[in-house]
Amino acid sequence: MSSYDVVIIGGGPGGYNAAIRAGQLGLKVACVEGRETLGGTCLNVGCMPSKALLHASELYEAAVGAEFKNLGIEVTPTLNLAQMMKQKDESVSALTKGIEFLFRKNKADWIKGWGRIAGPGKVVVTDSQGTETELLTKDIIIATGSEPMPLPGVEVDNKRILDSTGALSLPEVPKHLVVIGAGVIGLELGSVWRRLGSQVTVVEYLDRICPGTDLEAGKTLQRSLSKQGIAFKLSSKVTAATASETGVQLSVEPAAGGAVELIDADYVLVSIGRRPYTKGLGLESVGLETDKRGMLENKHHRTPVQGIWVIGDVTSGPMLAHKAEDEAIACLEQIVGKAGEVNYNLIPNVIYTRPELASVGKTEEQLKSEGRAYKAGKFPFTANSRAKINHETEGFVKVLADERTDEILGVHMVGPSVSEMIAEYCVAMEFSASAEDIALTCHPHPTRSEALRQAAMNVDGKAMQA
Ligand code: FAD
Ligand code: NAI
Repeated sequence: MSSYDVVIIGGGPGGYNAAIRAGQLGLKVACVEGRETLGGTCLNVGCMPSKALLHASELYEAAVGAEFKNLGIEVTPTLNLAQMMKQKDESVSALTKGIEFLFRKNKADWIKGWGRIAGPGKVVVTDSQGTETELLTKDIIIATGSEPMPLPGVEVDNKRILDSTGALSLPEVPKHLVVIGAGVIGLELGSVWRRLGSQVTVVEYLDRICPGTDLEAGKTLQRSLSKQGIAFKLSSKVTAATASETGVQLSVEPAAGGAVELIDADYVLVSIGRRPYTKGLGLESVGLETDKRGMLENKHHRTPVQGIWVIGDVTSGPMLAHKAEDEAIACLEQIVGKAGEVNYNLIPNVIYTRPELASVGKTEEQLKSEGRAYKAGKFPFTANSRAKINHETEGFVKVLADERTDEILGVHMVGPSVSEMIAEYCVAMEFSASAEDIALTCHPHPTRSEALRQAAMNVDGKAMQA
């Protein structure tokens, strides 16, 4: 039996960041993780492997298509899928080992095994041999993350019918990949396989892709992805799937009901969202209950039970690694009696397709429904010199600012490298900047970031380069 100040259940971005911060704050901390490696969904089967394949497949497509040729680079590339997967796995492994190093550096113990709450202040860990260890602690943080949402009638076997984990490790390039759900996973992994040679069809229940993103930005991204060859079947639902050794036959109907269409694919990716993961967590031992969606509610990261906290995908808010990280910091600061706060309005959102979509703050649709008077300043990448010389002119930057005060309320970008640029607006908005503040700030030339400034200038109709 060991005693701790804090025991964290789950070693993903929520859990591992909580463990590091606890160590920094001088607490005796243990993090319980059942996987073979730390890092959770994000490092093992999420953010990192998907970005590794997005990067590699983007370069492959540039080399194999007209892009390199037009730049005067003549090559005859061949795809070595096994090597592409190997370099992805090696990067992931280096990253997960990096977390082990950070644990040692910050004196956080990794307790290997599956944790179960066994009453107030008590966590029982079962390791892979079935041995149980009891941990006593002042505070428990639940950071058990999420798992893919199942779709009735479409049984994931990770042979022909895949979840995101299966789609990150396919042994061959599908001839026809059907993606169910035009959300972030569907578009990112659909893009990977299309670039590597698959025909990709995305079936989406709603009449738009990426619900929740600014509509104009979503439509712009859909146009670009369609041009690249992804076929979208919107307002449609998959009602059944029959898998064989060689492929899958899907029954697809209009969302509102109607004639069934049969679609053949050699692989299907089910990416219709994720749900909180609390299996075997022993919630009943302390009287904790999940809501209808399986989610543990929180008030400033506290559950209704004294001494039990919850962060990351398993609780409310966007299921994003940086949100889990922010909550980890705020939760630990609160445990030691400091002020910890997450600004949920300023959690950026990125879709790492090409072009990328990045946003922060309110969408136009949200501002309209709130009845808030706003001004919009837009600037297209076709008018940005760096984007032009790099032949990457798709997309735009849109800044939404309060009509009266000029405070920036939301920013939506579609274009090259916007994932790296959105943080400028996150900082500005944390400081309650006005669009004029950005418009008056010198930006380096020639960079894509000049489009951020020009869009801010255009909030008052004063963009100079378009
Ligand atoms: P998780 O990362 O899910 O970690 C929870 C951990 O808890 C897991 O390792 C699990 O094994 C462990 N666990 C669960 N129960 C127990 C138990 N009882 N005992 C011990 N251990 C337990 N987000 C982004 O911000 N950017 C991206 O680019 C991005 N890309 C993604 C791509 C894919 C394909 C997927 C699937 C997700 C992606 N996400 C991305 C989402 C991101 O991975 C999650 O938001 C993030 O991992 C949540 O962190 P977490 O710590 O809450 O949970
Ligand atoms: P998602 O919520 O992003 O998208 C799911 C899509 O499936 C939605 O468009 C929804 O309308 C649609 N859908 C739901 N049921 C359906 C059905 N029966 N038939 C057809 N379509 C249906 O979920 P996704 O893509 O699975 O990703 C899960 C989460 O993982 C994301 O919400 C995000 O939080 C996280 N993630 C983040 C990434 C990033 O930040 N770049 C990358 C990948 C995942």
